[in-house]
Amino acid sequence: MTTLLEGKDILRTDTLTDEELDVILSTAARFEAQLEDEGRLDNMAGQVMAAMFFEPSTRTRLSFESAMHRLGGDVITIADPKTSSAAKGESMADAVKVVQGYADVIVMRHPRKGSAAEAAAAVSIPVINGGDGAGQHPTQALLDTYTIKKEKGTLDGLTVALAGDLKNGRTVHSLVYLLARFDVRLIFVSPAQLKMPGHITEDLVDQGVDVTETDDLAAAMRESDVVYMTRIQKERFDDPEEYERLKGSYVLDMPMVEQAKDGITIMHPLPRVNEIKEEVDAYAGAAYFRQAHNGVPVRMALLALVTGRE
Ligand code: NCD
Repeated sequence: MTTLLEGKDILRTDTLTDEELDVILSTAARFEAQLEDEGRLDNMAGQVMAAMFFEPSTRTRLSFESAMHRLGGDVITIADPKTSSAAKGESMADAVKVVQGYADVIVMRHPRKGSAAEAAAAVSIPVINGGDGAGQHPTQALLDTYTIKKEKGTLDGLTVALAGDLKNGRTVHSLVYLLARFDVRLIFVSPAQLKMPGHITEDLVDQGVDVTETDDLAAAMRESDVVYMTRIQKERFDDPEEYERLKGSYVLDMPMVEQAKDGITIMHPLPRVNEIKEEVDAYAGAAYFRQAHNGVPVRMALLALVTGRE
């Protein structure tokens, strides 16, 4: 039992301590094993989670809802902002202030960077960031880290390539700060227009992480133990023609897997648009559906830890 995260918000990954990361990963592993044995737990009985999603989602919202159900708790949801009072012009801060009277924990996704922190400042119950625009996506990064550990046994000593839209992809903005805690080498693969924001790369270099930048995915895959593909984030482009030019930048197919480092693990936060050919799904190291499934125990851990029910 630990109260390390009780009452806390989960907004970003760079402010999580190593100890907090350890507790989240070990609690997730415990819940995963308990689920296999018992099917359903009752840690969160009598508690309500509010899912407030002001931007599209399949995995994040449904895996949070599944996590809460599997912990014996209840769920209330805004899945489509058009059906909530956001469509009448209600501010996000007002909406969360109201919802804190209905729930014990809020999971929020919003198109604006910084919105989760604003919500957290407006309420006294824990807020979990389910993605704030092109900002952060800490819960995805936690399940990604959990997945690498599960697939590879350890993170230390690995070379991890992150490929695609590193500029706008919030999952990678969060993930690199968790990977940096381990002895990893990072290769950032993107077209020049979609490079990782300079301030993030600088943070990592300041922390002593070995970071290389390239636009050559095949070359990066020859050196990598894990390749993390991302979608070109269409909704973040001001210029639709720029998106059209860049959308096909990387398409991972079987010939590329065959040329890659032996045993390479292939990840993707999903949804994929055309970054990974379906032919790759049958490859043993294609971990993206297992990765999505890991969202449930990791989100169970987060819900239980911030509400003191772990
Ligand atoms: C990601 C997101 O919403 O940022 N999706 C997810 O939560 N698994 C990735 C994406 O949309 O490309």
